[in-house]
Amino acid sequence: MGIETSCDDTSVALVNRDGKVKALETVSQYNIHSDFGGVFPELASRAHLEAMLPVIEKVLKDANVVPSKLEAIGVTRGPGLMGSLLVGLSTAQALGMAWDLPVHGINHLRGHICSVNLEKKRLEYPALVLLVSGGHTLLAYVRDEKSYELMGTTRDDSVGECYDKVARTLGLGMPGGPALDRMALTGKPSIKFPRPMIKSGYEFSFSGLKSSVARYVETHNDPNINDVSASFVAACIDVLSSKVLRAVEDKKPKTLAVVGGVAASLQLRERMEEISNTTSTRLCLPPIKWATDNAAMIAMAGWSYHDQGIVTDLEPKPNLKLEHA
Ligand code: KG4
Ligand code: ZN
Repeated sequence: MGIETSCDDTSVALVNRDGKVKALETVSQYNIHSDFGGVFPELASRAHLEAMLPVIEKVLKDANVVPSKLEAIGVTRGPGLMGSLLVGLSTAQALGMAWDLPVHGINHLRGHICSVNLEKKRLEYPALVLLVSGGHTLLAYVRDEKSYELMGTTRDDSVGECYDKVARTLGLGMPGGPALDRMALTGKPSIKFPRPMIKSGYEFSFSGLKSSVARYVETHNDPNINDVSASFVAACIDVLSSKVLRAVEDKKPKTLAVVGGVAASLQLRERMEEISNTTSTRLCLPPIKWATDNAAMIAMAGWSYHDQGIVTDLEPKPNLKLEHA
């Protein structure tokens, strides 16, 4: 069983060792937070508390599984919001005691990486990983299941955050990423937005790009939203892909994995296919439905911790880094 409550989704899944998802239920809190323009931490933990037990009961019922058939529980221990993490962790510990099961505290970022192995094992080591989500943007070199090297991360906004803020500027609502990505499909990338830090190392910066889009919208009468979207997406994807290409050439990994919510972007997926073809590196993408936060990826990471004997504590770690299990 996987339990994920790091931010604003209460998600529980039952996943077999081979990655087959037997049941998954996710209760989203979009309606609760939409008026605030971001996640309101106290409301998030309260909503997790209310949703948690019904969600657990539902997955057991959907999969027709009794608790005595489970082998272990994997639960997100960080990074994430303190109060939200606490709800998942305390629930998992109580269930572990009641059902006599081992409980593994999982790094959410490693969960995203494991999402590529859902349905079918795809990842081979060493792997280069681009993680692009609402909370994170990073490039990592993963030598094997236990050894993660951070190559670079963002100095300011994450890509997902930037998508969401630009979407809000364009009046596309929340969560903006998917809407913006769709708008971009029918626009022309005709506006020259900056490509921050495109040539320097493996670090990222996206806040300048976000401000540049806001300035463009403020200073133009009736801007074409599709063209602005397409131009913004082109700038983001140029930055991401140029660094990924350089990292692939530098590290020569066996597989290239792109994970996190923004990995649902069709245009990003296409560009990564091109890099995979030109460098003859196998590409691993999570099935789109499991790119964004979900408990199936946490259960999958749970199997990896369980089978390798990776032991962690069950304290919430709001700032947990990729390098730590
Ligand atoms: O991985 P995720 O669900 O949550 C975090 O761990 O942060 O990522 C959420 C982010 C949001 O910023 C959302 O706008 C973005 O992923 N996102 C997308 C798409 N679907 C979700 N961004 C671009 N294109 C998409 N299709
Ligand atoms: Zn996430």
